[in-house]
Amino acid sequence: MEVRGFTDEQGALVAKSWNVMKKNPGEHGLKIFDVAPAAQNMFSFIKDSQIPLDQNPKLKAHAVFVFVMTCETAAQLRKTGKITVEDRHLEQIGATHLKKGVTGEHFEVAKSALLETIKEAVPEIWSQDMENAWAEAYDQLLAAINSQIIKPPS
Ligand code: HEM
Repeated sequence: MEVRGFTDEQGALVAKSWNVMKKNPGEHGLKIFDVAPAAQNMFSFIKDSQIPLDQNPKLKAHAVFVFVMTCETAAQLRKTGKITVEDRHLEQIGATHLKKGVTGEHFEVAKSALLETIKEAVPEIWSQDMENAWAEAYDQLLAAINSQIIKPPS
């Protein structure tokens, strides 16, 4: 899929911060529930679980998905100017979220949580440009997922 430009510098900023964060990726990503507690009920493995949120391995895995996919998107955009995740995979992700009732609003909250998490995780190297680079990669990933949900008539 062709997308808007993403500079080498932006790609480097995402890679630099992820290199620090990936040592402990499961620690990041629970903030979304501070802002949107109701979103907890969307996750089948949280709803009836007695495990505290911050110890739930599947929830940690989901947070890592979001980080890794955004980071990979940035790397792909930097290298090829395109998102190269297979359409089939994006379509499946789109379908799962649609089925679970995840809306644009949740994706926006998750984006803020992601950006806030990065700021807290790497304060010594954080910059506004770094935040903008992550935001751009996330927006483009989301646009790619959304483009698979609402298929244009062929
Ligand atoms: C499942 C990625 C944002 C809620 C999944 C899966 C992936 C994924 C790879 C599992 C594969 C599948 O079944 O299709 C992402 C990415 C996101 C994102 C890359 C952001 C760009 C969100 C947000 C929410 C959410 C914002 C809601 C607050 C869920 C739920 C499931 C899921 C409820 C199903 C879990 C279950 O089995 O109960 N996501 N996700 N996701 N995601 Fe996300």
